[in-house]
Amino acid sequence: MQPQHLNMTTTVTGHQLFLFFSLADGEVDGKLADAIDLLGQHMENMHDVDGGPSDEAFERGRFQLLRAEAGLTSEQQIVHPALTEAHGLIRLEGASLGPLKEYETGLRTLMEAAGGSVETLAGVMRPRSYTSHAMTEFAYAHALPPGKGEKYPLAAVTPMNKTDAWWQMDFLHRESFFLPRYDENENMVVKGHALASAAGVPNINRRLVHAPEGYGLEGNYDFVGYFEFAEADAPVFREVMAGLRDTSQNPEWKYVLEGPEWWGRRVSGAAAFLERA
Ligand code: HEM
Repeated sequence: MQPQHLNMTTTVTGHQLFLFFSLADGEVDGKLADAIDLLGQHMENMHDVDGGPSDEAFERGRFQLLRAEAGLTSEQQIVHPALTEAHGLIRLEGASLGPLKEYETGLRTLMEAAGGSVETLAGVMRPRSYTSHAMTEFAYAHALPPGKGEKYPLAAVTPMNKTDAWWQMDFLHRESFFLPRYDENENMVVKGHALASAAGVPNINRRLVHAPEGYGLEGNYDFVGYFEFAEADAPVFREVMAGLRDTSQNPEWKYVLEGPEWWGRRVSGAAAFLERA
């Protein structure tokens, strides 16, 4: 399904790659860490940046290294061992795909030479499709901006698909799931997506990418969510996920099939993220 057939925006404002890697058993060579750090030498390390990117940095491309927090990752409906068993992740973002693909090719060559592997999730950034001015005020105007790794050390990745039934629905019907629903006496009967997750607005930095080639297709998740937060706000993230998954409060999730909820810790350089528990 293409966005123009769904009343969704066709605009692409950026690209992201999620490079999940698994290492071979045994000692990790220090040279591998140096080579990975070299791959990113012309890009911006998001670990050290407060706030959003400058146009110049977004053009060059940006990266964040994350070490897996294996005990916190949980499998959901879609089984995807290359994610659940990954030792780490490099998240890339930028205005064009070129520099990100170059990094990906370089990483794959290094990892495979060391007996490891790389699994890529790709997505495009798009303007919002269902959001009014008023919803922008509610859900985005006061949202937590991106911050340095020291401030927001934890991150979660939430790949997901929506079912065929979702994609068959008219856009007004789809849009209605983001808002609360009321009965004939105007009593709220369900919270909907935005209210069910509202606790996360001030405490969880959130980003979302869409499938690059269209929705409901094999080989790509429809959406990949990415969230960063302080250690103290990990319970808020869990509460938000529980709220979204509670179909009695958020009926949208009846139409969601999730990949693994992957947890990682942001680190500044490759030496730290090649360390294993
Ligand atoms: C923390 C508070 C959150 C708020 C206030 C919020 C609000 C919203 C809103 C208003 C939209 C509609 C965007 C549009 O106009 O296209 C949206 C979309 C979406 N959100 Fe959230 N969200 C939150 C957290 C989350 C979390 C934790 C997840 C993931 C697991 C998530 C997954 C998604 C997805 C996949 C979409 C796109 C849905 C679609 O287009 O069908 N959101 N969110």
